[in-house]
Amino acid sequence: MDFTITPTGATLGARVEGLDLSKPLPDKTFQTLVQALGRHGVLKYPKQNLSSQQLRDFAGRFGELEINVANAYQEPGLPEVMILSNMKQDDKPLGLADAGQDWHTDMSYSNMIAFTNVLYGITIPRRDGKSLGNTEFCNMHAAYEGLPAEWKERLEGKTATHDFNKFWEMMRRERGSARPPLTPEQRAAKPPVSHPLFMTHPITGKRVLYANPGYAIRINEMSEADSDAALAFLFEHQTQPQYRFANQWEEHDLLMWDNMGTIHNAVADYLPHEHRFIKRCQVAATRFFHADGTPRETAPATA
Ligand code: SIN
Repeated sequence: MDFTITPTGATLGARVEGLDLSKPLPDKTFQTLVQALGRHGVLKYPKQNLSSQQLRDFAGRFGELEINVANAYQEPGLPEVMILSNMKQDDKPLGLADAGQDWHTDMSYSNMIAFTNVLYGITIPRRDGKSLGNTEFCNMHAAYEGLPAEWKERLEGKTATHDFNKFWEMMRRERGSARPPLTPEQRAAKPPVSHPLFMTHPITGKRVLYANPGYAIRINEMSEADSDAALAFLFEHQTQPQYRFANQWEEHDLLMWDNMGTIHNAVADYLPHEHRFIKRCQVAATRFFHADGTPRETAPATA
């Protein structure tokens, strides 16, 4: 299959052209995409034309699909496809309007962490001809590399607790989000979990910083005060401009990113009448980890 992968030249990102993602991909092509995702962190496939089922099928190739607890925003009949949108119909929201609007990594709050998010852009807001609602990323391979040696040493072997409710409540408290509080049942479905702060990335074999401002609440092996100070340092460190890359959307882009090697932020720079409508699948890292979080020896050829 004749296709090209062109790096953006920035710290993250590559453009994949020449593939029709509505059709099943040969194993060899799929393996090349997995490697490219590890290497470049963010892949954009422009000019795709996908039904929700085709989006689900493409994403499902990379691993088990997550069904988000925000079940009001699922595609009818396809709970693995979530709608991210500020649009309304008959005064009812068509999707979750403020998904991901601060720095985070998806599913760091789960025992089985996320591999990739797969988003399909259908309506992209524009002002004066320029698209709005970028998705921004930071490079966690580079952030680990860039840590001062004394911090690498101090944090080696440490773990952090991640809590789904942190981001949810922050959106309600600081951003005036219309999200209702999580119900006791939703909270019970997402108890806090721990992960190593430094992880060996299963594709690149290199170390990444696995912490993010959205969900990390505590470094378990430190006092609360030391943990707060260390997390504040890490959050500032990992979001420095030299680690950043901004994806500017076009309609019919398929955008996917590696959640282990990046953190991301959905930029909320558009107004309620500037419509954004995106479909999203979240893929768990089941091809790299067993259910208890231990790494698999070799990742399967297909999920
Ligand atoms: C997300 O965090 O998955 C949403 C990203 C976006 O809407 O740009």
